[in-house]
Amino acid sequence: MRATITAIAHHVPEAVFDNHWFESRLDTTDEWIQSRTGIRERHFAFEGGLSDILVPSALEALSRRGLRPEDVELIIVATVTGDRVFPSTASIIQNKIGAVNAWGFDLAGACSGFLYALITAAKMVESGTIKNVLLCSGDKMSAITNFEDRSTCVLFGDGGGCLVIEPTDDNSIGIIDYVLKMDGRGEPHLHQKAGGSLRPPSIETVTNREHFVYQDGKTVFKSAVIGMADASHEIMVRNGLEAKDIAWLIPHQANLRIIDATAQRMGLTKDKVMVNIDRYGNTTAGTIPICISELYEQRKIQKGDALVLSSFGAGYTWGAILVRWGLEKMQ
Ligand code: ACO
Repeated sequence: MRATITAIAHHVPEAVFDNHWFESRLDTTDEWIQSRTGIRERHFAFEGGLSDILVPSALEALSRRGLRPEDVELIIVATVTGDRVFPSTASIIQNKIGAVNAWGFDLAGACSGFLYALITAAKMVESGTIKNVLLCSGDKMSAITNFEDRSTCVLFGDGGGCLVIEPTDDNSIGIIDYVLKMDGRGEPHLHQKAGGSLRPPSIETVTNREHFVYQDGKTVFKSAVIGMADASHEIMVRNGLEAKDIAWLIPHQANLRIIDATAQRMGLTKDKVMVNIDRYGNTTAGTIPICISELYEQRKIQKGDALVLSSFGAGYTWGAILVRWGLEKMQ
């Protein structure tokens, strides 16, 4: 039995902040941000938690599939910015949407959270014990962004998407193959210094602004360029695919230069690469579901299309997944 995506929807907060908004607060320029990252604007929700971002797309995805919340068996939430440390955001979403028969959990894979969660969901479905998974993936990065640090605050945005994953007996579609990797030696270069059990919140941690993203951008960049390109290339070779066989590369959107390097390694032309970093920035676990959902809503993917999803993020965590799209073009 194979698992496939049977519905998808996404949601971002309404408020848009362009690069000029940062120009008026920090020593930065629209030119620097666009040329170094590809980002033009992003969305922030200064009120509510991650669940408030994910619930609208959870309900929309279920409605598109014709499922009621009480039909959901398992909720997986991929995020590093859950509403609270505990309980899980999965349980909060369960309560908000009324998925009274579901169990669930959160999964922290940072920018690769969606890839990790998609394979977890697929394996649960393939085991035959779970009939459907509501996979919610997103981040409210504004909650852990230091708006006084120009080297990180311009990079991130808030948003997410939700999918329904179900079994299929159609062998021509589904979640086909994956390459998932982790290298914990990346921790010093990308982390949140305080708030966990190692360094619990205190007046000192707040004063030192340790509850925000810390990133050594240049070091992470070097690993990301290699990791994302390697994993994406590996999944192609392993499945005997050439550039012409791939409909879309759907890469994590942290930096346009990382995306371009990955596409180049795969031999793909720009028209086969999904890019929306200019409008959303890096929404961490939200990025890939937002990209897939936008392509679907724009009627740019059709049944049988080969999609390569790929990402690199904190941990380090990275990887690539090959999906054969199973839905007809959106009506
Ligand atoms: N405006 C103007 N100047 C800036 C800004 C800014 N917003 N930010 C940094 N600078 C300056 C720096 O201070 C530095 O100045 P200096 O040379 O005088 O010291 C200069 O610009 C170059 O800085 P770098 O950090 O070397 O810039 P770089 O070209 O590496 O770009 C970036 C930075 C965009 C962060 C890049 O390194 C990157 O994309 N890294 C990888 C990000 C990534 O993939 N992260 C993983 C996912 S995130 C997650 O998992 C949560």
